[in-house]
Amino acid sequence: MVGQFPKRRLFTPGPLNTAATTKQAMMRDIGSREPEFVDILRDVRSRLVELAHASPNDGYYSIPIQGSGTFALESVFSSAFSPKNSLLIVVNGAYGRRLADMATLWAIDHMTIECASDEFPDLEVVKRALQKKHFSHIALVHCETSSGIVNPLSDIARLASEFGCRLIVDAMSSFGGIDINVVELGIDCLVTSANKCLEGVPGIAFAICSNRFINTCRGNGRTVCLDLYQQLDVLEQTGEFRFTPPTHVVLALQKALDRLDEEGGITLRHERYRSCAAKLWNGMTGLGFRPLLAPQRRSCIISAFHCPASDAFSFRRMYSHLLTKGFVVYAGKTPGVDCFRIGTIGQIAEEDILELVNEIGCFLSAAGFTLPLRPTELVQSG
Ligand SMILES: Cc1ncc(COP(=O)(O)O)c(C=O)c1O
Repeated sequence: MVGQFPKRRLFTPGPLNTAATTKQAMMRDIGSREPEFVDILRDVRSRLVELAHASPNDGYYSIPIQGSGTFALESVFSSAFSPKNSLLIVVNGAYGRRLADMATLWAIDHMTIECASDEFPDLEVVKRALQKKHFSHIALVHCETSSGIVNPLSDIARLASEFGCRLIVDAMSSFGGIDINVVELGIDCLVTSANKCLEGVPGIAFAICSNRFINTCRGNGRTVCLDLYQQLDVLEQTGEFRFTPPTHVVLALQKALDRLDEEGGITLRHERYRSCAAKLWNGMTGLGFRPLLAPQRRSCIISAFHCPASDAFSFRRMYSHLLTKGFVVYAGKTPGVDCFRIGTIGQIAEEDILELVNEIGCFLSAAGFTLPLRPTELVQSG
């Protein structure tokens, strides 16, 4: 129990388990326009730019958007494109598809390069598309959280630079857990949110943008509250949000950034996530589960596993069983593939992974499976 509530261990892509001190930081009220909050906001914004290895001297700014990560993506998509622009979107999963849906909705001239959810995009195909037509922008999901694959960002960045395209990266589930240097890679806009590898609480997201990107957004905004240029302009002039900010969420994020520093920055956080993921792969393959991705494509963020091909297995039942023990896992998000996902980010440790795997083993045994599961035909014991 945590206070009066049962303990939860969240093996999801977010919201995640957060440190007690991060939650504690929210336990006060503060005015959104008072100098202390303005200072905190300035601190959080500049630390995020630093985490991306940039600074205002390199022409980079972080722009907070109230809401979940998709709100920040929608802000970018509704602000950054004029009718003269065209966008190439690399799609190998549900989040890449969401970018394409947004581009359609905002009537952005775009084309998608689609590939299988368990494969890296084919760089030759991307290159050929860029040779055929000039695209002003490329959009890529860094860690495709629907499968866990980490796409080849530096290769796509090289192509973006070669073909003079602005690069938009959805790094929602990777920023803070995988090091990304926006200056070196020439990323013009990186979108992330507080409640994933930064280990803050949900309610705010960020676009970390180059000056040249922001300048092209001027006058292109198609909504009032998600206008990226206006949001930055007012923040830079006044230090304040245009509309009510999630003050408590910002307080928590500042504490979460302190904790990231204390942990040893992104490098050591990445190491922790990697050891958790390695324990998970070991444990789950030990039970007989088959990961969706080949080892070289897996990430330390989240892993997908095929559901056993047996009527005796039901993800819903496993989910409910695990929930009664305080473990939360995630359903699959890959069309046509029966799988489920287990996240390895947030305030969890290797022992949590071992306990989760053990509980999954207990569930399978109680469901009548002989362990380890057999790869293809899973036999129910009598
Ligand atoms: C890669 C990626 N993009 C976008 C999103 C959407 O973020 P949100 O659910 O916070 O709107 C997620 C959420 O998990 C994600 O992993």
